[in-house]
Amino acid sequence: LARRVEVHGELPSTQERARELVRAGAGHGTAVLARVQSGGRGRRGRQWVSPPGGLWMSLVLRPELSLGKLHRITPAAAVAGAKALWELGVEARIKWPNDLLVGGRKVCGILAEGEGTCVLLGIGLNANLDPEETGSPAATTLRRELGRDVDLLRLIGLLLGRLETELGRAGEDFGAVLDDWRALDCTLGRRVRVRRFGGVVEGVAADLNSEGALLLETPSGTVEVFEGEVEKLRG
Ligand code: BTN
Repeated sequence: LARRVEVHGELPSTQERARELVRAGAGHGTAVLARVQSGGRGRRGRQWVSPPGGLWMSLVLRPELSLGKLHRITPAAAVAGAKALWELGVEARIKWPNDLLVGGRKVCGILAEGEGTCVLLGIGLNANLDPEETGSPAATTLRRELGRDVDLLRLIGLLLGRLETELGRAGEDFGAVLDDWRALDCTLGRRVRVRRFGGVVEGVAADLNSEGALLLETPSGTVEVFEGEVEKLRG
C-alpha cells in the first residue's frame, strides 16, 4: 500500500481526489491525504467535519477479491484500524459495521465506495483534535484519550501496515478476520435498532455470519443485516 502518496493542504474530499486518480489509471495502494477537507463526506451522505490535526485519507484498492467478496473490505479495515489504535495504547472497539469507538464515543469512521473495479477506502480518524472540533457530540479524539498528540506519520505507518495484513487475510482466511473482529467488538450481545434502506429492525445483535453480516435475533426469528446504522438500546 501507499506506493504513491499525494498529500494536500486542502481538498474538498480525499475520496473525490482518489476517484479522479482512479479514472486516470491510478494503481493499487495509491494514497491521498489532506490536512483539511472542506467537503468531507461520511456514510449515508452525512458531512464529515475535517479540520487540521485529523487523519483524512483515501486509499485506492484494486482488490484481488472477487466481486462477491468486496464487502469483506470494510470489516477488515475496521479490524486493521482498531489494531493500529491498540498499538498506540488506545483501547478501540468496533461498532458494527465499521465505526471505531473509544469509551463508547466515535474516534474513526470508514467509508468504502466502488469506482469501476476499484474500491476507494476512506478513513477519517480524529487524531490531534479536541472533541469539540469534530462537530459531533458523540465523538472523541486520540488527543482526548491519550492526553497528548500523536505522530501522524507513525499513525499512518501503523495503519497501512495493519491494512495490508488484514486485507490480505480477507481473501484467504476471512474467518480469522471475523474472529478478531468479534474480539474487538462492542455491538454483540446488545439490544440494538438498525436503520437500513429497507426500514428499521430491532433485536439482539447475536453474532456475525461467515461474511460479516450482523445476525439480529428478533421476535420473528433471526434476521441477517448487510448494511445499516446501529443504535444501541437499553436492556
Ligand atoms: C463515516 O461516516 O463514519 C465515514 C467517515 C469517513 C471519512 C473519511 S475522511 C477521508 C475520506 N474523505 C471523505 O470525504 N470521507 C472519508
